This record gives sequence, structure tokens and C-alpha cells, in this order.
Amino acid sequence: MDYKQQVTDALVKALDGQLTADEISSKLERPKTSDKGDLAFPTFTLAKTLHQAPQQIAQDLAGKLDQTGFDKVEVVGPYLNFFFDKAAYSEATLNTVLTQGADYGQNQDGANGNVPIDMSSPNIAKPMSMGHLRSTVIGNSIAEILKKNGYHPIKDNHLGDWGTQFGKLITAYKLWGNEEDVKKDPINKLVEYYVRFHKEDVDKPELDDEAREWFRKLENGDQEAHDLWQWFREVSLQEFNDIYKVLGVEFDTYNGEAFYNDKLAEVVQLLKDDHLLVESQGAQVVDLKKYDLNPALILKSDGASLYITRDIATALYRDRTYHPVKNLYVVGSEQMYYFKQLKAVLEEMKVPSAKDLHHIPFGLITVDGKKLSTRSGRIILLADVLHDSVKMAQEEIVEKNPTLANKEEVAKQVGVGAIVFGDLKNERMNSIDFVLADQLKFEGETGPYVQYARARAESILRKAADVNVQANGNQITDPEAWDTIKALADFPAVVRMACDEYEPSVVAKYAIRVAKSFNKYYAHTKVLTDDAELPARLALVKAVSTVIKESLRLLGVQAPDEM
Ligand code: ARG
Repeated sequence: MDYKQQVTDALVKALDGQLTADEISSKLERPKTSDKGDLAFPTFTLAKTLHQAPQQIAQDLAGKLDQTGFDKVEVVGPYLNFFFDKAAYSEATLNTVLTQGADYGQNQDGANGNVPIDMSSPNIAKPMSMGHLRSTVIGNSIAEILKKNGYHPIKDNHLGDWGTQFGKLITAYKLWGNEEDVKKDPINKLVEYYVRFHKEDVDKPELDDEAREWFRKLENGDQEAHDLWQWFREVSLQEFNDIYKVLGVEFDTYNGEAFYNDKLAEVVQLLKDDHLLVESQGAQVVDLKKYDLNPALILKSDGASLYITRDIATALYRDRTYHPVKNLYVVGSEQMYYFKQLKAVLEEMKVPSAKDLHHIPFGLITVDGKKLSTRSGRIILLADVLHDSVKMAQEEIVEKNPTLANKEEVAKQVGVGAIVFGDLKNERMNSIDFVLADQLKFEGETGPYVQYARARAESILRKAADVNVQANGNQITDPEAWDTIKALADFPAVVRMACDEYEPSVVAKYAIRVAKSFNKYYAHTKVLTDDAELPARLALVKAVSTVIKESLRLLGVQAPDEM
């Protein structure tokens, strides 16, 4: 049952076409507390056109309004406050959730259109940074949200597996490397060689020449260079995959930068054909003055390709392979300017999907006040953060629920969920300092808090397993149930809004809202009392469990039945 629609319809009629349905529905507000009604219509904007005081307009409107289907309509100052028919609304909402189950909130807006999502995309031979973690979890959640809106997402890990740094790494490995050492601790060792290269090349510029030569060999398909590169890539991917496994994130493709090597010549040719390339100090650039942007450097003076050259090839490839309806890039906000340039170049080339290219930026994250960095000695590894979180969750669980059977499994779900949720509940552009201990608390706006609310609902359902669950609206009489019902009814709108804004925090905040209102209900109401209203209360509990689980799923967070 769509009350917003019902309120809008009633107002359209009463206003006799003075405002369109869209104008009305965009003005409707949700009062902070239910005692002020369930939806409110402010009349200020009508005052001008009607040359009347807003209070008067509200009074007149109330008189003209068809009030059937509402408990009441109240005039408070310039506002018209609508109170829904609680029994009918509760029954309709709960029945919808219970019959649709996990499908509740699904829509077909996307008409199965392809949406490549460029996400995670860490760099080979370097530890995955917190930024890559954010890209992974934000991208993964956006993919789930897109699916829920009827799109077909394609999750692509655009690995940083190409570039002049591999010439340096090969040089360093040939000088100081050792196969056994790399096998034992791949990424750390490779970083060590790379750092040493940068230290030593200060006094030995010939190292740089050597590195350039190795990269040239690599680009020309030299066997030794290629084998080393491939090995670095493989061992790095193994470590990345451990993290993806812990997070429960999978990719459809791992088409890193190297994948586009044989597609760069065409890019250059196309740019030439369109007369877009100009020479600048020996290098080839695309002028972007028209866009108020600096020129994009496409080929260095020695003919070497760049990050953007490979990204142009990537965009072309995605365009031809998927005919996408949108192209998403989940990459940190420090690359904002870069993506403006990329989009501008693609527009100049008239690549069809350029206009639907969206950079989805996000802010910086620090853990317990410390920044993750690869160059400095102090490296906080992402794997360690996840490991610590699971350990802390396990301690908490052992203390809270010593008899729980699958403690380890649950500790993983809670520990990892705490990090993912702790990240996603923030609007993605915000920079956050992540205090791990806070995110693991069972109180406050945390993942474990939401998981726990649902586990509590599941525990109630287990205790009443022999009772028929039935959503009879007349029997949901507790006033404390009302906020929960309204929250449940909002889920389909939340799914849409999160998709429109590419903003998982909309879902995370919503999950907190459902959990909070349910906890309040639970604190006031003896749910399991064996009376005539028990089946209806259980319907509410079951619907809460369903919607929280589905919300968490959209975030990539698991929902243990017991914890
Ligand atoms: N590897 C890059 C980095 O770590 C991110 C790549 C983002 N994706 C892209 N198509 N440019 O900064």
C-alpha cells in the first residue's frame, strides 16, 4: 500500500490541479515523531499563487479533502498532517513483506541493463590499501543495490598490473631478489625491493635506465620480463584473494591494465583520426581547454602509454562488450580531476557511454588514527585489521553467549560485518577515522547492533515455532509497533534512493532505523505473551527479521541467526 500516493491523490483532487502530483509528492515531509502524523504537507509555497495566508490555505484544504482511508487529517498552523489508517496499513505492509520475503523491495527499473562497475582495483606488488577496501565494499554494495533495482552489474577488478614501476621492480628483483623469500611473504618482499630501488637510485641514476629498459622489454613481450611480471601478479593476487574471500566479495572479471596492452594502438589511431592528438614537448596530448581542464597526456615522448591511455581502451572495450546503460568507477576522491579528464576525452571521441560515465568517489579512511601507507616503514595491513576485528568479536561473543555452538563462524560474520558496516554507514564522501573497538560494540550505530537486533527477532521466532504467524492489522495495537511498521514500509523507497545516489549509507542508516525501532518495540511489548494478538506480533517480528537480513545483504554483511 503506497500511502504517499494516496496522500498525493487526495491533495491533487482537493487542490483542483493547482499543483501536479510530482510537485505535491516532492513537498511531503515525514514528521519527526508519529504523534505529529505520518506525512505532512506544508502550504507555504501555495501562499504566493493563492494570495492567502498558509494557515488559511491549510484550513480550506482540510475542508475540501476526501479523508477516507485516513485515521484523521489535522491542521497544525500551515501544515496538513495526515494520520494513516494504522490497522489497514499494518496489515498490508506485513503481508507484503511476508509473502515476498527476500524479494521485498525488488523493482525492475534497470530493465536488466548492463552496468560495469570498476571496483577494488589494487596495484600489483603493493599491499591493498584502506582505499581499495573502501572501493571493494562500496562497489560490492552498489552492485547488490543495482541488482535489487533490476540492473545487471558486472564487477570488474581493474588491477594496477602495468606501468613503468614494473621495470623498476624487475630491476630490483634481479639485483637483490630471492625466490624463496618472495614465496614466503610475497607482497612484503616485493615492497621491500621496490623501496630499496627508490633509496639506491638517488645515487645511482643508471638504475633508472635499467628499469626503463626492463619495462621496454616487458612491453615488447620479452620472455624473462613477462615471466617475472606474471609471477609478481599471481602471488599478489593470491594475497588479494584471501582478503576478498574474508569479505565475501567476488568479481566477474579481473581485466587489469595489462589486459588492454594490445588495444592501445587502436586508441592512439582513433585519436589521430579524430585530429584530437597534439604534440606538446615531444609528447602526445589531448587538449581539454574547452572543458576547462588541463591537457590529457596520452603518450610520453618515448612513446610509452599512461594510466589514462589504458583507461580509454578500457572504456572502449566495456562499451563494445556490454553496451552499458551506465559506467561506474568506484575510486577514491583524489582521482576526481583525473576522471573529469577521462570523461572529457571520451566525450571528444564520441564514445557512446561517456555521457553515462560516473565516477563514484569516496573519502579517506584511517584506522585508529593511523593512515595506511606503502612507502613509509609503518604499514598497517588490511588483513591484520580484519583479523583483529574477528578476534575482538570472538572475545565479545564468548563473554556474551558462552553456549553458542558455532562461535568461530559467528565471530567472523560479526567481526568482518563490523568493519564493512562501519565503513558503509558513512556517506561515502566523508573521511572517517575508524576506531575498531567502537565499531564492534553491540550498542550504538554499529553492524553488530543491527545483527543483534535481528538475531533477537530470530530467537523469538524459534521460541514460537509452533504458532501460526498471521498479519492481522486490527491486532497490532501497540503504539510502539507503528514506527517499525512505517520503517518496514519504506524499504522499497530506500532501495531506489540508494541506487539513485550510489549511496550504500542510505541502506545502512535505514537498517539502523529498523533495528532501533524494533528494539524499542521489543522493550515495551511482551511479544511472546500467549494471547489472541500473538500471531500478529510474530508477523511483525518475522517481517523485521526479513527486512534487516535483506538490508544487510545489500551491504555485503552477513546476518547470523544467533549471536
Ligand atoms: N589502481 C588504481 C589505484 O590504485 C585504481 C584504478 C581505478 N580504476 C580505473 N579504471 N582507473 O589508484
